[in-house]
Amino acid sequence: MIALSLAEIAAVVGGQTHDIPDPSVRVTGPVVRDSREAGPGSLFVAFAGEHVDGHDFAPAVIEAGAAAVLAARPVGVPAIVVDDVQTALGALARHVVQRLGATLVALTGSAGKTSTKDLIAQVLRRKAPTVFTPGSLNNEIGLPLTALSATEETRFLVLEMGARGIGHIRYLTELTPPRIGLVLNVGSAHIGEFGGKEQIAQAKGELVEALPEDGAAILNADDPLVRAMASRTKAKVILFGESGEADVRAENVRLTDTGQPSFRLHTPSGASDVTMRLYGEHHVSNALAAAAVAHELGMSADEIAVALSEADSLSRWRMEVTERPDGVTIVNDAYNANPESMRAALRALVAMGKGRRTWAVLGRMAELGDEALAEHDAVGRLAVRLNVSKLVAVGGREAAWLQLGAYNEGSWGEESVHVSDAQAAVDLLRSELRPGDVVLVKASRSVGLESVAQALLESGAEGEVAAR
Ligand SMILES: Nc1ncnc2c1ncn2[C@@H]1O[C@H](COP(=O)(O)OP(=O)(O)O)[C@@H](O)[C@H]1O
Ligand SMILES: [Mg+2]
Repeated sequence: MIALSLAEIAAVVGGQTHDIPDPSVRVTGPVVRDSREAGPGSLFVAFAGEHVDGHDFAPAVIEAGAAAVLAARPVGVPAIVVDDVQTALGALARHVVQRLGATLVALTGSAGKTSTKDLIAQVLRRKAPTVFTPGSLNNEIGLPLTALSATEETRFLVLEMGARGIGHIRYLTELTPPRIGLVLNVGSAHIGEFGGKEQIAQAKGELVEALPEDGAAILNADDPLVRAMASRTKAKVILFGESGEADVRAENVRLTDTGQPSFRLHTPSGASDVTMRLYGEHHVSNALAAAAVAHELGMSADEIAVALSEADSLSRWRMEVTERPDGVTIVNDAYNANPESMRAALRALVAMGKGRRTWAVLGRMAELGDEALAEHDAVGRLAVRLNVSKLVAVGGREAAWLQLGAYNEGSWGEESVHVSDAQAAVDLLRSELRPGDVVLVKASRSVGLESVAQALLESGAEGEVAAR
């Protein structure tokens, strides 16, 4: 964080100082909500959760060297006391980003936010110091904490913004007003909570409504609901996508034999070839989005192409590919799932599994509301159409729908099976996997299928796999 005195912070957040002998003491950062991360010069933000109350840790963080606690009540150690800790944290973030010389880039969308945020950061940091959302901390607490981790040196601040309802993104843009706003896609993630795709588009579009006139709205030309957001912004519009009207686009898109996308990148300033390290065709769209941001910030097509080609996956369980010593490939995409990412992952599985046996170990896609039956059915059918060798649907009712979709599409006998839980899936795969097989593991976060990927990697290491 840029250094601020406790007196300044109290003024910014409208708080009272308590038990502070010297208000000129400065917070140099970091600002943390986890007491274990508090160290010298830090500010600890005390949230009262359901199970733990941060206020209980106030003495320990001061002991560890923290300058003060941002708290909802006096805690007997140096504290800035406010009515509402979350509001105060937001106000502090807003104050700090206004003082920073950094350009704020914000992005949202139904699928691919974290992957794209990681790509943008890996491109921009070649040009200048960049701070970006760690992992998926994209809500009203993670966002200000990320913004507060920027320093005087930071030139680019890349922020992922998540929404579970109307008004959420607007709130986030008020805390950290972006100059560049990117909307990736409008899919079905959280559709149950939103009520429909139009509502999702309404909510995501709040990002471009918040942009200033000299800003840039970066929109997916291939997604009609995103494309239509052009009318909701004062900012200049830059389109990305495979569509011919896109300013930043890809030509000759293909997947390599390893399932990695390769394409020719066109930006208004030139063209250059990209072959990604990431897996799956869905990353083409993410890469184009990142390229559009980088182009707007003055990078050449060549610089962008090199950065995209060298970018790694920074966040776990997203198409994480591991080769077992016996030649079985495990693709762990168990971080999350929605219909769009299921389709992309199945396509990647088939591309990387050419000439090999492919397994799709799939679980429920959560929060689909009324669409749930149709979407699970469609994924099961797609697995068959793509010629995935074996489908293992894991879990309850939704998994049964998935398997039934495959069955109705013509996958009888052992090609598709339904098992009740993760352990049953592991048992089945342990006895069935053969060297050379490729296994995709994917479901919504709440299903916890990463345990299956983990168990399969461990069983490979122990050489338990039947060699046939
Ligand atoms: N552009 C995209 N379209 C569809 N699915 C995607 C896209 N980008 C990533 N995914 C998939 O969506 C899931 C979530 O990816 P992630 O980058 O964490 O997105 P988010 O942060 O929006 O949840 C992963 O399974 C990933 O493989
Ligand atoms: Mg995310």
